[in-house]
Amino acid sequence: MPIDRDQLKLLYEERNISQKLWTTEWALDLWNKYDALKSGDTIVDLGCGERFALAMSLEPTINYIGLDVNSDSVEESSKRYPQHRWIHADVRNEMYNPTGLLDPETFNFPIEDKVADLVICASLFTHLETLEVAKNYLQEIQRIIKPGGHLWISWFRSPPNEVCSDAKRTVYTEAEIINMISGWLNLKFTTAGMNENYHNQWVMLGQVQ
Ligand SMILES: C[S@@+](CC[C@H](N)C(=O)[O-])C[C@H]1O[C@@H](n2cnc3c(N)ncnc32)[C@H](O)[C@@H]1O
Repeated sequence: MPIDRDQLKLLYEERNISQKLWTTEWALDLWNKYDALKSGDTIVDLGCGERFALAMSLEPTINYIGLDVNSDSVEESSKRYPQHRWIHADVRNEMYNPTGLLDPETFNFPIEDKVADLVICASLFTHLETLEVAKNYLQEIQRIIKPGGHLWISWFRSPPNEVCSDAKRTVYTEAEIINMISGWLNLKFTTAGMNENYHNQWVMLGQVQ
């Protein structure tokens, strides 16, 4: 995928998010390597923030859909990147949207079935609080992803961490995570998350079977 890395670096500097540059480039390289993203594809970025939207503004063939519970961030991004589709989901999250009206355990993404070639959940399941929310989000992901589509997802797992349903740093057991993805996601790549360092997440790229 032809994203100009010099331009990406400059834009990240301009937006003051240079600290996210290397993990973004790392993800782009892995998606290339594992054929998870091709020109003309549709990305759904859940808990999107800004960084992949900015990267995809350099690849105009990509159809990018960003969803987040943070209304300010979605509003600002929709002005900055009007070529993308933006969804503000007023879903409750103790850290990011404590007064949200919608229940995350039953929330249905306002996104059509089988549209996504790649679903991104970067540092999202690390804030989802309960196992029921994670299960609901994974069910919705299975609904919106195309057969053969890819999922990029990161977790805090136990061990090595203590199980925790705090939105600041949600941890599920390794067995729970494996149970939630087994039978429908074929893992192509996983790395890290083996120690308790605060930001050390178990990162996965899988393909829907
Ligand atoms: C740590 S940030 C990650 C942002 C972005 N994915 C990245 O990697 O730079 C977590 C994001 O998830 C969003 N978020 C929190 N709970 C959410 C939920 N239940 N549904 C969707 N997004 C949520 C937050 O508003 C925030 O933008």
